Amino acid sequence: MSARRSGRELIFLVGIASLLGCLVFAPTFETVKEGYGYGLRVTARITFVFFLLAYIARPMVVLFRKGQWLVRHRRYLGVMAALSHTVHFGYVLLYFAATGEALEVTTIIFGGLGFVFFWIMALTSNDASVRALGMWWKRLHRTGMHYNWLIFAQTYLFTPWGIAVALAAGGLRLAARIKQRRTRRP
Ligand code: HEM
Repeated sequence: MSARRSGRELIFLVGIASLLGCLVFAPTFETVKEGYGYGLRVTARITFVFFLLAYIARPMVVLFRKGQWLVRHRRYLGVMAALSHTVHFGYVLLYFAATGEALEVTTIIFGGLGFVFFWIMALTSNDASVRALGMWWKRLHRTGMHYNWLIFAQTYLFTPWGIAVALAAGGLRLAARIKQRRTRRP
């Protein structure tokens, strides 16, 4: 088996096992709302982990010459994040159907766009799409990554560990970009 294939299998194995482990062996909750709330948090956190690994892959190489494995497997990390976030989407539907709570239009639009980006990025994470979309592939993926980073940062704004991790990842991307611009300059 090639190293790339075994890396891909490892990513999906860890991702799916984490999802199943947390959701199947979930604690028992007194209300349906609490149960779905738990599902929402678990899926968002698992997505966050895989999303961040893909998000910081390139900066790690540019800044520290570390993380080549992440760069080679970025595609699978992204697909795993999209998969986990599709389960988050399922919990969103269950949660609001069960609680009858009203959803704000801004949440539907901005949150909904986050899901759309995840799905489009996952569907175009293959060589054929890279060739077909040309320079638009990079633009699409860069926009989708930054957009979802923004949604995570905003959601975790008042969660100390969450915002700290999001800002650290954003800082790495920025520092890598500045370094690349400087080295490109004659
Ligand atoms: C229409 C779209 C969405 C809706 C209605 C929605 C709804 C929810 C709800 C009800 C919770 C649980 C809040 C709680 O119990 O504290 C939650 C948690 C969360 N969602 Fe979503 N979500 C949406 C899209 C997204 C997207 C696109 C992202 C990320 C890109 C995201 C990231 C998160 C995060 C980070 C949490 C908090 C997890 C934690 O507490 O650690 N959500 N969401």
